[in-house]
Amino acid sequence: MTALLIDGKAAAQALRERVARAASELRQERGVTPGLAVVLVGDDPASQVYVRNKARQTLDAGMASFEHRLPADVPATTLMQLVAELNADPAVHGILVQLPLPSQIDAEAVLRAIDPAKDVDGFHPINVGLLAVGQPRFVPCTPLGCSLLLKAQRPDLAGLHAVVIGRSNIVGKPMAQLLLAEHCTVTIAHSKTRDLPAVVCQADIVIAAVGRPGMVRGNWLRPGAIVIDVGINRIAADTASGNRLVGDVNFDEALQVAAAITPVPGGVGPMTIACLLLNTLRAAAWATQWALPEAVR
Ligand code: GUN
Repeated sequence: MTALLIDGKAAAQALRERVARAASELRQERGVTPGLAVVLVGDDPASQVYVRNKARQTLDAGMASFEHRLPADVPATTLMQLVAELNADPAVHGILVQLPLPSQIDAEAVLRAIDPAKDVDGFHPINVGLLAVGQPRFVPCTPLGCSLLLKAQRPDLAGLHAVVIGRSNIVGKPMAQLLLAEHCTVTIAHSKTRDLPAVVCQADIVIAAVGRPGMVRGNWLRPGAIVIDVGINRIAADTASGNRLVGDVNFDEALQVAAAITPVPGGVGPMTIACLLLNTLRAAAWATQWALPEAVR
């Protein structure tokens, strides 16, 4: 068997186009331009790349982008003050504080300080709780993107066994909630799970979000499984060309066993920012009491 490749790049482009169309309608009907503020603290190179891509794609979707860069040694009070200003700014509908934050800052306190109605990351405890009780408002972007890719592949997930590897607040836990809402039987595996290959082997759906290059081997997979690889790991390339990106799944092996798989790059990654734009559009629509068009509901 050779698995079908799930084209996240194409799916993300299609979603961005739907979001851009709806943003343009919102502007025409209400005179409101959805605005996203992104806060970057410090100079982590990977975060800088993400933030630059977010700003470019926000503008490309016809939305306003507000970028705030603070030095790595910024006092927590300065960051909290900025969050308070963004909460109060009517031009800002969505706020994202890029993680990780430097160690002198209590990241949980910062996330709690963001107005839940502007929390397009879906990390505020109110939004985490709403997702857990089946009334999602803002769903974290990476698991939302995974869920959209999965559902495009297989619209009815009811009864399937999904194994989520990783229990982070950003991916693993919200992913498990989304799969439960789709009536999957969900197992969350993590670094202390005993005999991980035996657990993964039972899965109809595998979501790998551990940040360990190639950890999930082909012979762990049940033939015909759908594999969603969230890992983005930079490793040294065999050639002199520098680094290359690989996922958490051994792609070449999995290709021989799975029914469908997301590649890295070009799978989950592009969907994350597209979902951030979708959440920003939703935030602006709710703030304006504008009914979202069917295409972005
Ligand atoms: N760092 C890695 N992923 C994310 C994300 O989805 N949101 C934020 N704010 N920071 C991140």
